[in-house]
Amino acid sequence: MSYPKIKKAVIPAAGQGTRLLPATKVVPKEMLPIIDVPMIQHIVEEAVRSGVEDVILVTARHKEAIENHFDFNFELEESLDQKHKKDLAEISKSIGRLCNLISIRQKNPLGLGHAVLCAAPVVGNEPFAVLLGDDLIDAEVPCTRQLINIYEKEGHSVVGVMEVPRAEVSKYGIVGGKSIRSRLMEVSHLVEKPAPDAAPSNYAIPGRYVLSPKIFEYLRKTLPGKGGEIQLTDGLELLAKGDRLLAYEFEGTRYDTGDRLGLIDATLAFALKRPDLAPGVRELLRKYLAG
Ligand code: UTP
Repeated sequence: MSYPKIKKAVIPAAGQGTRLLPATKVVPKEMLPIIDVPMIQHIVEEAVRSGVEDVILVTARHKEAIENHFDFNFELEESLDQKHKKDLAEISKSIGRLCNLISIRQKNPLGLGHAVLCAAPVVGNEPFAVLLGDDLIDAEVPCTRQLINIYEKEGHSVVGVMEVPRAEVSKYGIVGGKSIRSRLMEVSHLVEKPAPDAAPSNYAIPGRYVLSPKIFEYLRKTLPGKGGEIQLTDGLELLAKGDRLLAYEFEGTRYDTGDRLGLIDATLAFALKRPDLAPGVRELLRKYLAG
């Protein structure tokens, strides 16, 4: 049986980014760079490399910089062209060509589940991917593509999971269920940020999902949960009970770039992978470690 192709991705980006204040007072968290590339560009590139054509950005007041980043900047590009800096002009233009960006406002920060629900009129009755802007996943096959592959085979919603130490389960949505085959689990229940002794497993959802449009019915029924917010995890729990939900242990390295240390971790890891920067960064590290 063949299932509909996934061409749409929702990127919820309406949060306040309080963990990175004061940087996020005026600049959207998603625009903070990993070296010279804003976090959100890495996320959109992952979606596009996974086959997504329409990116639906759920945004909020004062976050217009994100939309502008994925548009052309004629003044800058013209001026670079005239100065014969074609390669720089092309870097700027290529971001404008990356995808079709559709943006929708979440008028109040009522939670991640509510943010995803805001995208329902644009998603319509199609399966879609969800990528969170502050979870960077470095993988040979993009994490979203890995989940789409599972969806296209199984025809059911799937969340990406990774194993975390017990002591850290309270930072994530955690899945419980039974293994179907290597890396794939049938989810029976989920808990948002449980205490270590209340967690059903140590498999955490770090912000990648491929969902059937049925999730919208369940999100409409989801009551405010942890922190008084409408939690996506609670909507997924209803989906797991009323329909079917799979969890796939993806391959790749995840960085929590919504957190100060996570941001440093990602910056170093990405710098050490870049031939233009790696020798200089190694030198710097040697200097600081010796001191
Ligand atoms: P976070 O829990 O990381 O919240 O949200 P945040 O506001 O972005 O950051 P901190 O914790 O205050 O530093 C997870 C994801 O859900 C989105 C955020 O933009 C982020 O991508 N989100 C959260 C919304 O879009 N709307 C909301 O109401 C809440």
